Parts: sequence; C-alpha cells; structure tokens
Amino acid sequence: MKIDSLWSPQSGPQTYFLKSSAYEVLFGGAKGGGKSEVLLFAALRFADNPAYKALILRRTFPKLLELIERSKRFSQLGAIYNIQGKMWRFPSGALIRFGHCENPGDEINYQGQEYQYIGFDQLEEFTETMYNIIKAQGRSSAGIPVFIRSTANPGGIGSLFIKQRFIEGKEPNKKYYRAFTAVSPNDKSDKQEIVLSSIFIPSTIYDNKILLKNDPSYIAKLMDLPEKYRKMYLDGDWNVDSSPDQLIQYDWLKPHAFAAPINLHALKNELESSFLGVDVARYGNDSTVFCFIRNNVLTKIEEHKKIDLVATTNLIREIIEERRVITENISIDTDGIGAGVYDNLKSYGYNVNAVIGGSRPLAVAANSYQFANLRSQLYWNLREQIRNEQLKLPDDPALFSELTAIKYKISQDRMIQIESKEEIKKRIGKSPDLADSLCYALSAPLFKEVNKVSVTII
Ligand SMILES: Nc1ncnc2c1ncn2[C@@H]1O[C@H](COP(=O)(O)OP(=O)(O)OP(=O)(O)O)[C@@H](O)[C@H]1O
Ligand SMILES: [Mg+2]
Repeated sequence: MKIDSLWSPQSGPQTYFLKSSAYEVLFGGAKGGGKSEVLLFAALRFADNPAYKALILRRTFPKLLELIERSKRFSQLGAIYNIQGKMWRFPSGALIRFGHCENPGDEINYQGQEYQYIGFDQLEEFTETMYNIIKAQGRSSAGIPVFIRSTANPGGIGSLFIKQRFIEGKEPNKKYYRAFTAVSPNDKSDKQEIVLSSIFIPSTIYDNKILLKNDPSYIAKLMDLPEKYRKMYLDGDWNVDSSPDQLIQYDWLKPHAFAAPINLHALKNELESSFLGVDVARYGNDSTVFCFIRNNVLTKIEEHKKIDLVATTNLIREIIEERRVITENISIDTDGIGAGVYDNLKSYGYNVNAVIGGSRPLAVAANSYQFANLRSQLYWNLREQIRNEQLKLPDDPALFSELTAIKYKISQDRMIQIESKEEIKKRIGKSPDLADSLCYALSAPLFKEVNKVSVTII
C-alpha cells in the first residue's frame, strides 16, 4: 500500500507525531498547525494489517463530517466507505471508523470495542470522563501497538484536565512515564510492572508551511483576534484560558446517582467518618440546610425553612449530645447570621469549625493551585472528591442542578476563584444552599489538618 504517495507529514511537529512511540500524544495547542490532518492520516499506519482497527472522534457529528470529507482520499488506497457504519474498510480487512460523543453518557456506546488507534480531534471539547472511558477501548490482541492520539486548542470544557495531564509541570516534546503494578487477586506473587508514556508535541500555524503558502492571509486573521484569543490560537498559550468555567461537570455526577452501599467494614469508625455541614439561611426565602455524610456517602440533606438561630443551635446541640456527629466534624457557615449559631455553640463549649467563605484559605498540605479564599478552597475540595469518585451522592436533581451551576475561574498565577454566593444566586434565582452545606460537610478533615490543637472531642 502506498500511503506515502497519498499523504506525507510536514517536517517538524507532524513528523515527530508520526514517529512518537508514546502511548498518549497530545498534539497542537494552536490553530492551523496541521492537527486534524496528521491525526487523520496517522490512522493509516497499520492499514495493511487485517487485525487493525482505528477510531477517530469529534465531539459532535456535524464537526466530524469535515474529517469524514477529508478522508475520502482513503479510497485511493482501495478502501471502501460504509455510510451507516461511518467506516472505511481497507483491502487488508483493516477498519478506520469515525465516531462522535455528544452527550455525557454517550461514551458507554464505545464500551466493548477494541481499537489500536484512537484519535480525538479537538480533545478540549470532550469531558474527562469521555476521554477516559473511550481511551480504555484501546486494546490489542494482535501485537499492534495501541496509540491514543489527540489534538487540542486551549480553552473549552476539557482544557483543565488536558492541562493537568499533558502540560502543567511538563516540558513539551519530552516523554513522561507512569508506572503501574498489576497484581493477580488469585496469586499475589503474580505481579507485572507496566509503564505508560505520554508526550505533548506543540505545533502552531508557523509549523504549517503548506497553509502559510496556500493562504498567507490566514495568519493575519489570527493576529487580528482580540488579545486573549490571539494568545490562545496563534501562540498556543494555555495560561490565558481563565474564563469562568463550570466547576462540576454533570457527567461526574451521573455515576454517583447509583450510589454504592455504605461500606460496612468502615462502620466501626462511624463517628469518626460522620460529618455535618450547616448552611445557615441569610435571607427570608433561603433555607437552613443540614448535610450529613457518613463513610463518604451523602446520607441526608435536611432543609429547614424559617428556623431561627436558637432553634438551629438546639438542633446541632441535639446532634452532638446524641453523639451522632463529633464536634470536630461539624462545620458551620459563619458568614453573617451563621456567626450567631457558632457563638451559641461556642458558649456551650462546642468547638465546631467556623467557615467564613471570604477568609484566607487553610494552610493545608501543598496543592499545585492557590485559592482566592476559603470558599474557593472548600469548593475545589468538593469538586476533586466528586471528580475522583470519592463521594457517593443521592440522585437528587435539586442538588445536581446547584452543583453544576457553580462557576470558577483560574488566573494566570494559578489562583482558583469560585464565584460568590450572590453571583450564583443572581444567575440561578436561588442561593446554592444544598451545595454549600455539602461543601462545608467535607471541610472538617481540612480544619483538622491545620487545627489539631483546638479540637474538642466529647
Ligand atoms: N501534511 C500535510 N500535507 C498537505 N497539506 C497539509 C498537511 N498538513 C496540513 N496541511 C494543510 O493545512 C491545512 C490546515 O491543516 P489542519 O486542518 O490539519 O489544521 P488544524 O490544526 O486542524 O486547524 P484547526 O485549528 O483550524 O482545526 C489543511 O487543510 C491542509 O491544506
Ligand atoms: Mg482541525
């Protein structure tokens, strides 16, 4: 098969991309650098092997059509296109298939398939879950290496996970390795060390000599963009993407809807692993919300409408005195009216945690980010627990809609800022009381870390 006569890479990044033996490659990071072109034609590499299957994806079907259109040239290699299956079958029997994954959850449609080349064009349009689940279909039973290949620009829903995975703290064009030890559950001595590698290969319009020659005005169009977009698309600057973004993705919540049962083995530590967060109502229409967590499971959210400070204090006293939650595991919103509840509890000698959203973040173990204030730190903690599937949530649409409404921004000095309660309220028409109480409930371990001395356990 004469792939070379059909297409050849340009010297520079496209050539490095084709030569890379890394398991995962991220390519590009700017507009017009020859991303789609190399992603598509790199899929031909093993097209003369009957066992070879490749999958090339865009998030939505209309955008995928442009790639399918370009792939028409595959017919020059004798491949036949099947419109229903959106795939090319090569004379050898090899397959190159096109796919999209528009809605959260669609990624499961790819489960049970096996590909040796999976290419995501504009990965920043995909969610992290989509990337992880679809990537997991990369498997080879015929000795062909498995390559996961992606292109991306800064910005978009996936920008943060892409930065974390390929860019931050890493040098471009350098391979990084992650080691895994697989141990057989039946025979613990049966161990296998596996190493996966990844690399980011940058490319910009300046690397695409063909486009520069064919359309010299294109670069001027990129230069003409407002500064932020010029930096993103012309320079491939990943730090510019500081626009407010959704803190918690809907598809992170979905799997938790089918919450795993409480881990019975952990129940002997029930008290230590039980937490309470209280969001005290500030305005007439807001509710005071109690959120209980036990063994990483949100067990109960209680909304109390129009209860006063004394009643709120008494409810919390009852919880402490019945030993349902220990004081050091109780965190109370102490901004505004909540301060009254906190002071009351203190006067009873209960050392609960005071959450003042606007105060300085807690000095906990180093994080690669900084936080604008305590509220931002606690919300980031919530986000990470949900994203890493460390928290089981009930299928509660009201809670989910609050959680997914919260936006954050990340500035160039890696400072994370969650929007204020008031900003959220303006946008969604209500205060995010449920989400706040959950956020506070998860805060106690952080307080414990910095505040070991002043803890009182009754
Ligand atoms: N190796 C190549 N051989 C021939 N033409 C190429 C090659 N690489 C890039 N080009 C030309 O450059 C154009 C732009 O490349 P491509 O579409 O891959 O860029 P991109 O980085 O995906 O752009 P965008 O950011 O807009 O998605 C192509 O339409 C094609 O004309
Ligand atoms: Mg492209």
